[in-house]
Amino acid sequence: MIRQSRADFTRSGDGVNPAEIPKRTLYTGARMPAIGLGTFGSDHAPPNLVADAVIGAAAVGYRHFDCASVYANEDKIGLAFQTLLKNGIQRDELWITSKLWNDKHARADVIPSCQQSLKDLQLDYLDTYLVHWPFPNYHPPKADVTSRSTDAKPYIHEKYMETWAEMEKLVDMGLVRHIGTSNMTIPKMELVLRDARIKPAVNEMELHPHFQQPELFNFLRVNGVEVIGFSPIGSPNRPERDKTPEDTVPIEDPVILEIANRLGVHPAVVCIKWAVQRGQTPIPFSTNRRNYLANLLGVVSAPLTEQDMQAIAGIDRNCRFIKGQVFLWKENQDWQDLWDVNGVITPA
Ligand SMILES: NC(=O)c1ccc[n+]([C@@H]2O[C@H](COP(=O)([O-])OP(=O)(O)OC[C@H]3O[C@@H](n4cnc5c(N)ncnc54)[C@H](OP(=O)(O)O)[C@@H]3O)[C@@H](O)[C@H]2O)c1
Repeated sequence: MIRQSRADFTRSGDGVNPAEIPKRTLYTGARMPAIGLGTFGSDHAPPNLVADAVIGAAAVGYRHFDCASVYANEDKIGLAFQTLLKNGIQRDELWITSKLWNDKHARADVIPSCQQSLKDLQLDYLDTYLVHWPFPNYHPPKADVTSRSTDAKPYIHEKYMETWAEMEKLVDMGLVRHIGTSNMTIPKMELVLRDARIKPAVNEMELHPHFQQPELFNFLRVNGVEVIGFSPIGSPNRPERDKTPEDTVPIEDPVILEIANRLGVHPAVVCIKWAVQRGQTPIPFSTNRRNYLANLLGVVSAPLTEQDMQAIAGIDRNCRFIKGQVFLWKENQDWQDLWDVNGVITPA
C-alpha cells in the first residue's frame, strides 16, 4: 500500500483542485463530482493495486469512487479510504458508491449486504447504493458468457420493488444518502419511477462514444435521474471472454483519434471529455497514475468544440460491450432480450 503524507492530499502539485471539478446536482440537492474512479479490477488488477490507485487518485484530486461488493476488493479499498480520512480529507468531501449484488435481492439480504459493504469500506454511510443489475441471478465470478444459471429469472417488477423497498429503508436508516439503479431500460425505469417511494437518484449504465444510448439518456434526464456512465473508454482491457467479434473499439475510432491527435492527448481522454461535456458522469478505471491524472485533467481543460461534440454524436454504433449474457433465463435466448429493445419488458 502506498504511504503518503498529509501534504500529498492538500497541495495541488500536478493534480487538480477538487473544487474545480464540475459537479452534478441530484434531485436532493446533493452535489456529486462529475467524474469518478472505477474500481473493478476484473482479472488484471488485484485488490491492493486498485486500493493504491484510490489513494493515488485522491492525491491528484479525485473525490468520487465507484465500488461494488462483487468487485471483491471493498475491504482493501476501505483501508485506502482510512488513509485518505487520516490524511486530511473529510468524509463529506468524498462521494462513495457501492452496489447490491444479484444474489442478494431477497428482502432479508439487502440491509445486511449494505452493512457488509459499509463494514468493508470502513464507512458510516454511502453516498449512493445501487441495485447492480435488475436480474436476481447468481453466477460465479469470472463466469464465461456461455454460462447459465439454473435458477436464473427474468425481471419481475413486483420482486424488484420488494428489493427496492429494502433499499428505501437504508435511506430511512441513514446508512445511504441516495439509492439508484444500474443496467436498466426505459420500460423498467418507467415502472420503478411510478412505484418507488424514494425515487432513484442515479442510474449507472454503459456509455461511451460507440454506445451512447440517447433515448435512455434523455429519458433519465427528463425524469431527474442523474446518469453515471460505466466503461467510458470502452473497457479496452476487459477479459477476452467478454468480447465478441462484432465489438468495436471507441479509442480507435478515426473521429476520436483525430481529436486526440489535435489536442495531444490519449484517445481515452477525448472519451472522458465528451462524457462530462455531454452531461453524464464517467467513472473510468485506471491503476496507472499517468492515465487517471490525464483523465481528470481532461475534465478541467478547454472543452471540446461544438463541432467535435457533433462529430462524436455521429459515431454512435449502438455497440454494447457488457451484454449480460449470463443473466439469460431461458434456452435459445438472445442477449438483446435482457435490454427490452422492442420498448417493452421481455416477457418471462
Ligand atoms: N454498473 C455496472 O454494471 C458496471 C459495469 C462495468 C463497469 N462498471 C464500473 O465502471 C468502471 C469503468 O469501466 P471499465 O473498467 O469497464 O472500463 P473503462 O473505464 O472504459 O476502461 C478502463 C481501461 O482503460 C484504461 N485507461 C484508463 N484511462 C486511460 C488513459 N487515459 N489512457 C490510456 N488508457 C486508459 C485503463 O488501463 P490502465 O489501468 O492501464 O490505465 C483500464 O484498463 C469499472 O471499474 C466499474 O467501477 C460498472
